[in-house]
Amino acid sequence: MRDTSSCFWASAEYCSTPSACHSCKQRVVKMYGLLLENFRCVILEKYGEPAWNKIVENSGTGHHTFATHKIYSEDVMARLVQAALEVTNRSREDITEDVGLHFLGFIGQYGYDRILKVLGRHMRDFLNGLDNLHEYLRFTYPKLKAPSFFCDNETETGLTLHYRSSRKGFLHYVTGQIKAVGRFFYHLEVDVKVLEYNENNHGSYALFQLTFDNSVYMETRRRPKRHSVISLNGETGDLKIPMDVFYEVFPFHIVFDRQMVISSTGNSLEAVLPYLPGKTIASKFTLIRPFTEFTWENVSQCYF
Ligand code: HEM
Repeated sequence: MRDTSSCFWASAEYCSTPSACHSCKQRVVKMYGLLLENFRCVILEKYGEPAWNKIVENSGTGHHTFATHKIYSEDVMARLVQAALEVTNRSREDITEDVGLHFLGFIGQYGYDRILKVLGRHMRDFLNGLDNLHEYLRFTYPKLKAPSFFCDNETETGLTLHYRSSRKGFLHYVTGQIKAVGRFFYHLEVDVKVLEYNENNHGSYALFQLTFDNSVYMETRRRPKRHSVISLNGETGDLKIPMDVFYEVFPFHIVFDRQMVISSTGNSLEAVLPYLPGKTIASKFTLIRPFTEFTWENVSQCYF
């Protein structure tokens, strides 16, 4: 039997035992009302109030509205989605993608669009900024179980996007969100293809191919860089600021090499955590963001 304890859109598609999933007590999974309220708004907007009332009734959840900052059982969403399939006669894929598409418009009413507008000059910056955004949102949603995203293989016509989650079943929801990001913030129609999707006991992983006009970003990348702080290939000839200045500006920095061995740390970090140099970084720290294995390849792929 698959572990379905955190299967968000619990269904035959993602979960071989939906009923067990609904009553699974192994791990109590919670979700903020923000996502549920967005779901409610999609149903109201597209299918009307009678459909929503029917969905609430059939789902047996008893919630007609949701408070955005309140935490609900994840089971609520699963039951609402299941009921929505029957009432609207649409596929799970279509419904969940619609919910994702609608999300950006929905959060606009809370002023979040102002934060999102400045998340990145280009689509790839936006996507790479989502982990930091969700970290920042922890101030208002402290129990948030955030997703993790990063881009690679960037070309004139798109990029690949890695998505990791401690939840399962968000695949089409994310597809909708990405399409909406393209339309809302970059006036781009983004074609989203799933190259890979898998789930395990820890959550899920998806690799998307996004196809869109990425030429403006590629052009800026070709321009010569004005500042280079530190060279990754070991060359230091083009450093524009001296190493000691860099060390002073970042008193909590950690420098480690390809073997993941720490070679130096900033003064302030050293004061609280002495004796780090010479140790492997993964033996002393856990990588929280991005949500991936802590290897040189993964870390350098994300940021450099
Ligand atoms: C300011 C805007 C945003 C806010 C306020 C926000 C807030 C949240 C909240 C509260 C959750 C629920 C987490 C939980 O209950 O544990 C969540 C989950 C999620 N968010 Fe955001 N979010 C924002 C923007 C975005 C954007 C732009 C994307 C993607 C393009 C995104 C992707 C997701 C996904 C996929 C999840 C599901 C959790 C998972 O995959 O594990 N969010 N977000």
